[in-house]
Amino acid sequence: MSGRPHNSDDTREPAVTRPGFGRAEVYRGRLDEHGRLLPTRPVGRLLAALRERLRSPGERAERELDLRLAGCGRGLERTEHVAVVSPKGGVGKTTCTLIAGDTLARHLHLRCVAVDANPDYGTLGSLAPDRSRSDRSLADLLRADREPVAPGELRPYISPLASGLHVLAAPPAAEAMAALTEEHYGRLVELLGRFYELILLDLGTGLTGPLARFALHRADQAVVVATPEWVTAERVLAALGEIQGRGVEGQLTLVLNQAPARETADRQLIESAFREADVARRVVIPYDPRLRQMLDAGAYDPAGLPRQTRTAIKQLGLAVAEGLA
Ligand SMILES: Nc1ncnc2c1ncn2[C@@H]1O[C@H](COP(=O)(O)OP(=O)(O)OP(=O)(O)O)[C@@H](O)[C@H]1O
Ligand SMILES: [Mg+2]
Repeated sequence: MSGRPHNSDDTREPAVTRPGFGRAEVYRGRLDEHGRLLPTRPVGRLLAALRERLRSPGERAERELDLRLAGCGRGLERTEHVAVVSPKGGVGKTTCTLIAGDTLARHLHLRCVAVDANPDYGTLGSLAPDRSRSDRSLADLLRADREPVAPGELRPYISPLASGLHVLAAPPAAEAMAALTEEHYGRLVELLGRFYELILLDLGTGLTGPLARFALHRADQAVVVATPEWVTAERVLAALGEIQGRGVEGQLTLVLNQAPARETADRQLIESAFREADVARRVVIPYDPRLRQMLDAGAYDPAGLPRQTRTAIKQLGLAVAEGLA
């Protein structure tokens, strides 16, 4: 996380430490570069080094990602908004909203809510496990007699995931959703902003509807989702300029989702076109039937996914985390 000054270090009283008695002096040579305490005994160090050497390249890459994610984990000064968009339907907007939000809640411990802002039968709420799924929606929250003033009062509307991510569903009836205006969303986002550090907005297909316009205008960053077919990738690449023009300058993550495991010539061509796109970050997420099944069963658990998929999901989380102020 870079950009604006993040915490109030400048105004904080400096820690009072006697000269030569700082923690750095006491623990010199005993902490690694990530601040973890190294084993004290030489044999312990030797075993730790051996364990490190025995890790597979995949394990090492994932561990590196975990450390980088943990390094991003500090609170945000103000609520940030992430819009997940695509000019095409069915590409994985809802999936990316859930897995990115889950990663940020899990690894950065952010107070994070994913909101179904799809005006057309959104599915985000259905991805929450049955046992913790709320049957209320964002429309119910907006209709509540009294605005929640404490986090506990929000709970009846929220479906919590094991990671700590909260999900706010769309109303099941399309007419109820259609009745919601930009003003309603403005109020909703304002209300949620009192309780959450990060709001992810899972949008419907397209960029020109009032909701997409509102979300892109409001967003601090956008995640733009494509799949590796020419028709979709071409549309998404064409839409990037339009998205950037809506004020989400420089803060784009481009996701190539449902990528086939095999490096086909057309996938390579699409990936190279994506590499040339003027976006801050790019992530490729493989097509994974296990992920699809988990989502459908309301049983999303990254630990149960193949490492390749889990690593790609963490890369998406890291991309969003690095875009936070
Ligand atoms: N990487 C993936 N591997 C396997 N299945 C995936 C992957 N990403 C998404 N899916 C599956 O593809 C389907 C569509 O995904 P999703 O609902 O996230 O798309 P969407 O863009 O939100 O669709 P819509 O435009 O209808 O809102 C879902 O069944 C989802 O589980
Ligand atoms: Mg969707």
